[in-house]
Amino acid sequence: MQIIVCENYEEMSQKGAEIITAEVKSNSKAILGLATGNTPIGIYRYLVEAYHKGGLDFSEVQTYNLDEYLPIDPADENSYAAFMHDHLWDKVNLKPEHCNIPAGNVGMEGAAAECAAYDQRIQAAGGIDLQLLGIGRNGHIGFNEPGDALHTGTHAVKLTDSTIAANGPLFANPDDMPRHALTMGMGAIFAAKKVLLVANGKNKHEAVKGLLGDAITTACPASLLKLHQNLILLCDKEAYHG
Ligand code: GLP
Repeated sequence: MQIIVCENYEEMSQKGAEIITAEVKSNSKAILGLATGNTPIGIYRYLVEAYHKGGLDFSEVQTYNLDEYLPIDPADENSYAAFMHDHLWDKVNLKPEHCNIPAGNVGMEGAAAECAAYDQRIQAAGGIDLQLLGIGRNGHIGFNEPGDALHTGTHAVKLTDSTIAANGPLFANPDDMPRHALTMGMGAIFAAKKVLLVANGKNKHEAVKGLLGDAITTACPASLLKLHQNLILLCDKEAYHG
């Protein structure tokens, strides 16, 4: 594991954007796995800036997002699809047909088919070259929540109280937050050639400790990542030192 500890959020975001930029410059057809949440917003801002300055071309790049609420309309302002449109997809020259995210409007009954189709699309694209990951306070990655077992493929998941408490306030009415989500499983994340996990702030310290400690446990899904051959932990001082 490569560990990069930055002074603050801006430095972390800049560095994260540099790593993704280098990936896209070395492979114009890169398959990027992308994440939502507050953490990667700065990275997306710097990527958009690099695109506008010229020299960063997303025209052949494909993106696959980790997760989406269930049920949610992609047009809903709280959907992760809307988040991606706002922060990246609509701000660079990514082709709309190259931007992928599980559909949150399939309902519980359509979830299994949507998940299987999503995994097939990722596989058909050749797998993910670089997976950007945030981390939940409880160590979740994507929406792979702590539990007795983790899942390999994209699947529907019931969100934990910790995640509902963390994400609920982002909704105008926290009670409107969907209690389920679709998430890429550990399989596609582990199959990524490179994983870039970003974390900032004191409230991520426990989760980062779970990643850095010796134990590998489904109680902290991120802890499994230390087995990945090409993992970069990019964090700020607070997340690293607590
Ligand atoms: C959400 C997302 C994760 C994300 C996590 C942390 O639950 N499903 O992919 O990593 O929250 O979010 P934040 O970066 O806002 O702390």
